[in-house]
Order: sequence, then structure tokens, then C-alpha cells
Amino acid sequence: MAKKIVIASGKGGVGKSTVTAGLSRALENEGKKVLAIDFDIGLRSLDLLFGVREQVVKNWGDVLLGNCEKEHAIIHVGNIDFISAPLNFNEEFTQEKVREMIGKYDEDYDIIFFDAPAGISAGFSLACVAADSALVVSTPDDVCVRSVEITAQKISSFGINDIRLVINRFIRKLSAKRKFLNVDEVIDLTSVQLIGVIPYDAKIGFSSMQTSSFNFKASSQKSFGRIAKRILGENVPLKL
Ligand SMILES: Nc1ncnc2c1ncn2[C@@H]1O[C@H](COP(=O)(O)OP(=O)(O)OP(=O)(O)O)[C@@H](O)[C@H]1O
Ligand SMILES: [Mg+2]
Repeated sequence: MAKKIVIASGKGGVGKSTVTAGLSRALENEGKKVLAIDFDIGLRSLDLLFGVREQVVKNWGDVLLGNCEKEHAIIHVGNIDFISAPLNFNEEFTQEKVREMIGKYDEDYDIIFFDAPAGISAGFSLACVAADSALVVSTPDDVCVRSVEITAQKISSFGINDIRLVINRFIRKLSAKRKFLNVDEVIDLTSVQLIGVIPYDAKIGFSSMQTSSFNFKASSQKSFGRIAKRILGENVPLKL
């Protein structure tokens, strides 16, 4: 059975999809079989980050509605498997049917990621229903931190108790100069246990402008690698 992790934040544009893609690659490097599923119905983006936008024909909505076999929605990105999100919401996308659809993939993977949309409404709920754990992504600022605190409470209401915090776009120098919250402040304000910190990486923003796959600086790649090891239960020291 796969470990099923929803990646959420509340606020938009904080790096949920980037973290999904980065951790998928880091866990692939650990030899794990990863499935990443885009749950951002109508505003999908993981296909762009994985550099496979031209290959998207089917999505998980087709599997749920019985329009295609489970294998036909999968796009291979190296050893990572990826399934895109439907372009439109369908009233048949119920929590029960999403859980059933995910169940079809459960035995085939070590890790399944659900890249949640911004907000805490219907699409977010669908991304949570099949998960057994969660990563909440926050940038080090008050607005994002508050939304993560609320999102984490909402995730708990799905019976998910294993919730960990990823601080993204962290700039150590600016945090030291009190331009941003520091790591301890983000942890205290969100009340969520930290799993790792991803630095601000201009290369991530740059690669999102390309049609090819995403790229990281060595430092952020190492951060994703450390978080991946922690997801697998290893004890890895925190480095900023
Ligand atoms: N660590 C980082 N350093 C620099 N830029 C980053 C970092 N993480 C994400 N970004 C940039 O921030 C933008 C938003 O990232 P992303 O799409 O992953 O956020 P999101 O939370 O998934 O957004 P949405 O809520 O719209 O789904 C992108 O342009 C991405 O390249
Ligand atoms: Mg996203």
C-alpha cells in the first residue's frame, strides 16, 4: 500500500506544485515508485512542471468516470508516474468516487502525492479524501502562515493526523534582517511540526518559464532530498 500525501497550503502560489514535483524527483532518486496526481481542477500546472504538457490526453476524471483504464491516464516522467487534473469540475467527482479511483493505484506505488488546489473548498476536499498524511507549504510571511494554520485544521477534520510543515522560498539573510519571519516563528504560528525548509531558488522560477522540465539549484535539490528522506522515516538534521 502506498503512503498517500496531500500537499496543501490554503493560499495560492506558495509552491505546492513545485514541492510536489521536487519531492517526486527526490523520492525517485531514493529508488521509490512515485505517482504524482494533479488535483487542481481547471487550473492544472504539474504537466508544465514535469515538461509533459503535450502528452496530456486523459486525466483522473476519465478514470473516475470509467472513460479509460487506469493505465491510460498515466504519463511517465522518467521513473515518476504522473496523472493530470480534469479541466472542468463534474458533479460525479464525489469524495467516495475519488477514494475508489485512488484505490486502483494504491498497490502499484510507494508514494502517491496529491497536489491540492489553493483554497479549502470542494477541490481541496477531494485532494484530501484519500490521503493518510499531509504536507502544508508556507512561505515565511504572516498571510501565508495564517492560511496554513487554518488549512492544517481543515486537513485534521479528514482524520489526517500526520501533518508536517514545509517552509518554501526561504531567504536566510532576509530572515536574519527581520524582513521575513524566521523558521521558529513560522512553526509557532502554524502549530505544525517542521519537515524541511526549501530556499528561494531563482532557477525554479526560471525553469517554470521554459517548456522543458523544472530545474533546481543544488542547494534546493539537497533540501528536497532531505525532506524525501524524512518522509521515508530517516532522521536527517535540519540545515538552512
Ligand atoms: N523555492 C522557490 N524559489 C523560487 N521560486 C519558487 C519557489 N517555489 C515556487 N516558486 C515559484 O513560485 C510560483 C508558484 O509556484 P507553484 O505553482 O508551485 O505554487 P502553487 O502553490 O502550486 O500555486 P497554485 O496555488 O496556483 O497551485 C512559480 O512561479 C514557481 O516557479
Ligand atoms: Mg499548484
